[in-house]
Amino acid sequence: MKRHFITTTSLGLVFSWLIFFSGGAAEKTHKITTVSPRKMADALHSVIAADRAVYSRVIVERITAGRGELQVSEHWQAEGCLPVHAQMLRLAAVDIQKKGAEFSYALRSLWPINSSHGPQTAVEQAGLEFVAQHPGTNYYTEELLGGRSYFTAVYPDVAGLPSCVACHNRHPSSPRRNFKTNDIMGAIIVRVPLEF
Ligand code: HEC
Repeated sequence: MKRHFITTTSLGLVFSWLIFFSGGAAEKTHKITTVSPRKMADALHSVIAADRAVYSRVIVERITAGRGELQVSEHWQAEGCLPVHAQMLRLAAVDIQKKGAEFSYALRSLWPINSSHGPQTAVEQAGLEFVAQHPGTNYYTEELLGGRSYFTAVYPDVAGLPSCVACHNRHPSSPRRNFKTNDIMGAIIVRVPLEF
């Protein structure tokens, strides 16, 4: 009797595993035919943020630490320096737009060195305030711009390196001089159109 019981239980287990695995396999063969605007914005942001982080860590930090003098400047053309990270980001963003990209992205802040980086829309203002007040959280919403709706994603831009803080706090055009490492300095805003 006992043996019979065990056998039935084992069979039951085998069947439930079979059902589980066939279910899993069926799910895995399911092809993704659409990508949500949020996944798209998250993917774009991860590439933009990674490129920028590498530039800041591998190039700017080493140059400024090694020479003892600043070799990075927003007046890079006139002074023969390297452009600052924000200019690299903007140059690439403009190039991508020229090539006809439907999405767009920009660096923004409530305390901008470059006043054109201040919030440009009510959504940007709300998103910048939200990410500054909720560390570690992104802000997602929809926005109507020029008659077209967009999925707008706001990702906090964190002062991850001492050089972020040092440069912004001493910059003559910076409206804020008390940044600390790991403070939220602004945001990368990514827009993906919802209508084509
Ligand atoms: C060598 C100086 C320097 C360093 C280092 C630096 N920044 Fe900046 N940052 C600037 C300048 C200058 C601008 C404005 C550039 C322009 O004219 O577009 C700027 C722009 C920004 C902006 C857009 C708002 C604004 O102030 O115009 C954010 C956000 C920002 N930086 C965050 C960071 C973070 C985060 C780091 C570190 C990963 C960092 N910065 C490192 C100089 C620096």
